[in-house]
Amino acid sequence: MNSPLPSNSGSFPSTRLRRPRREDWSRRLVAEQQLTVNDLIWPLFIHEGTNIREAIPSMPNVNRLSLDLMVDAIAEAAELKIPAIALFPATDSNLKTDDAREASNPDNLVCRAVRKIKEAKLDIGIICDVALDPYSSHGQDGLVREGYVVNDETVEALCKQSIVQAAAGCDIIAPSDMMDGRIGAIRKALDAEGYDHVQIMSYAAKYASAFYGPFRDAVGSSGNLGTGDKRTYQMNPANGDEALREVALDIAEGADMVMVKPGMPYLDIVHRVKSTFGVPTYAYQVSGEYAMLAGAAAQGWLDHDKVMLESLLSFKRAGADGVLTYFAVEAAKLLRG
Ligand code: PBG
Repeated sequence: MNSPLPSNSGSFPSTRLRRPRREDWSRRLVAEQQLTVNDLIWPLFIHEGTNIREAIPSMPNVNRLSLDLMVDAIAEAAELKIPAIALFPATDSNLKTDDAREASNPDNLVCRAVRKIKEAKLDIGIICDVALDPYSSHGQDGLVREGYVVNDETVEALCKQSIVQAAAGCDIIAPSDMMDGRIGAIRKALDAEGYDHVQIMSYAAKYASAFYGPFRDAVGSSGNLGTGDKRTYQMNPANGDEALREVALDIAEGADMVMVKPGMPYLDIVHRVKSTFGVPTYAYQVSGEYAMLAGAAAQGWLDHDKVMLESLLSFKRAGADGVLTYFAVEAAKLLRG
């Protein structure tokens, strides 16, 4: 129906980029990217007990769930065809120790959660984070010796953590710790134990970011970390070339997929990683990004659904194959509708 719209006479300019934007069908026809439910990974926070749904004040609409409610929530995600979930435990503070030994307890909260999800026989992949911070009394991702997070000893602990998670049935091991050499060591450890089918999604370019604040509240590690930070192992936000070196090493060590984290402030890194290596590349729209958007939307300052979908689409345009996002379920419902 072009006729009722005012026509442009004359021949200047002959190339009009607005021409294909005039009708909805045409805008859809020339769209370069499309966000689908297959692009979504849902991170969720889990908690001991039954029938527990605890709100996280800095993350509107996100809750910590006990395992019974978790299974129902994941069943809904599977129904929506979300391909994978990522589990994050809020560990009881009396289980946190200096050596974070709870991380390799085969009956820890995450392992029990994985077994419970597997028992429900849902068509959904399970991703488990590998790092010591949910279990350490100091809130660091690794073992601390004389005030410094030591690398090689930490990697040994991470291998043990990976093995118990794989034994519980985890499909994708996701090391988020940023120790050097951990991908190769974990790959070797998994293979030696017969878990050669378990995939590794490496948090390859993970920055020392202030956008993780609400997450640390959600898993209860911010109090433990105190005024400490993770700048001796997570990357400096000033660096881009270094991200490519991190990714190159992780691919060489056997990572099946790589991740960039945070997401929106690092879309340049997503783009460079995907265009340089062409490997499955994921971005994590982290807790602080979620808080910004969901918090502003809750105030009525932003349109919730529109900013959610626009932000997720931006990851696709940058080259990501998928996005870890706390919006996954809401976005999947909209995309299906
Ligand atoms: C733990 C871990 C963190 C996140 C995922 N895994 C926090 C951190 O490194 O302190 C952050 C996720 C988010 O902010 O949504 N190693």
